[in-house]
Amino acid sequence: MSLRAPKGTDDILPPASRTWRRLLRAWDLLTERYGFDYVATPIFEATEVFARGVGESTEVVEKQMYTFEDKAGRMLTLRPENTAGVVRAYLQSGRSGVFKGAYSGPCFRYERPQAGRRRQFWQLGVEYLGTDEIEADLEVIEVGYQFLREAGLSDLELQINSIGDGPDRLRFNEVLVEWLTARRDQLSVDSQRRIATNPLRVLDSKSDAEIMEESPTPLEFLSPAAAAHYEALKAGLVEREITFREAPRLVRGLDYYNRTVFEYVPRSYEAAQSAVGGGGRYDGLSELLGGPALPGVGLALGFDRILLALGDRPPARALDVFLVVADPDRRSEAWAFARRLRDAGIRCDLLAGERSVKAQFKAADRRDAAAAVVIGQEWDQGMVTVKDLSSGEEFKLAAGDLPSWVRGTRGAET
Ligand code: HAM
Repeated sequence: MSLRAPKGTDDILPPASRTWRRLLRAWDLLTERYGFDYVATPIFEATEVFARGVGESTEVVEKQMYTFEDKAGRMLTLRPENTAGVVRAYLQSGRSGVFKGAYSGPCFRYERPQAGRRRQFWQLGVEYLGTDEIEADLEVIEVGYQFLREAGLSDLELQINSIGDGPDRLRFNEVLVEWLTARRDQLSVDSQRRIATNPLRVLDSKSDAEIMEESPTPLEFLSPAAAAHYEALKAGLVEREITFREAPRLVRGLDYYNRTVFEYVPRSYEAAQSAVGGGGRYDGLSELLGGPALPGVGLALGFDRILLALGDRPPARALDVFLVVADPDRRSEAWAFARRLRDAGIRCDLLAGERSVKAQFKAADRRDAAAAVVIGQEWDQGMVTVKDLSSGEEFKLAAGDLPSWVRGTRGAET
């Protein structure tokens, strides 16, 4: 067959999809525990949502959006990120006050594909709207930190910075443009262009990192209020025992940020696309979208990058038990038993139709079950034969005891 998935997109198939499912579930549970409600916005929005929200001069809006005209002539864009859409949804719903939303889903950016940089990729994120209290910034950072650790990425560096508020940035921009213009010839072509369009982005340009080490930074231009906010952020992180590194040239690629910006970078992951997640405060975003003043802070984690950073860990087993029906007359009892096991939270399956015992054992292996459970002669005494498919060990067990045996053996895997 010559049909292929589009360039820069991936099919998520087993066994890798098992890790996906496990981590998505963990994300849902974690954000629920932190009091974030679930929120889902459309995968496409009016182009204006991103043009105004994310910013015309950003690389995302300038070069990376999948934009199309629908049959009625509306300009629509596949979402390159979720924050602008979530704020648009909040405003449209007529809500006011604090809103904590968590989401997960695909985003689209027309990028040059490579490992960890995809055209369709998944983001897991939270948005905390309606408060400018520092505890909101801290909670958002903590949720991301907790998740990444739960996922198994313990070797993380949290990088933080403050880019100040609008007037601070204007003052900084002026000084920065002057500084960059004086060194124009030493800068890459991209950075030269950005002096006029988006000078802030030159700060964290990878190709000009050496020159930029000497540049002024936004921290030197913070208003007293923004500086106090940044100090409170650092103190709060220390209190929460979240280690961090100050990165005075971290600015992030989207225009809506003010004050807090941060990224999580795994130390052991050396590929070019290193941040597994990032976020920050965006108190002006609502107004950019035509809404009232509405402070907010959020983060998004790149799910594809998290999985890449986790590497080739053995995936979890797909099933706890696979039922092998040794006596064809017991098929309907086997299906009823499967239903009871599933009701008890056991991941269980069996083959449809009458098949040889050998074929069923083979299927148990292929389906990556932890154990095969034979329903044969001993069923009349309420017993089953269990074969642990990792150790090869075989023993008889009362059918009713199977759920607790499974729970005892599967550990924290699921
Ligand atoms: P972002 O830094 O553009 O921020 O994206 C967040 C994360 O999405 C990145 O750290 C990265 O892991 C992942 N990501 C971005 N582009 C790609 C790609 N092409 N392929 C794979 N992964 C990618 C935002 O999108 C903001 N909305 C985050 C935020 C939420 N700020 C406040 N609230």
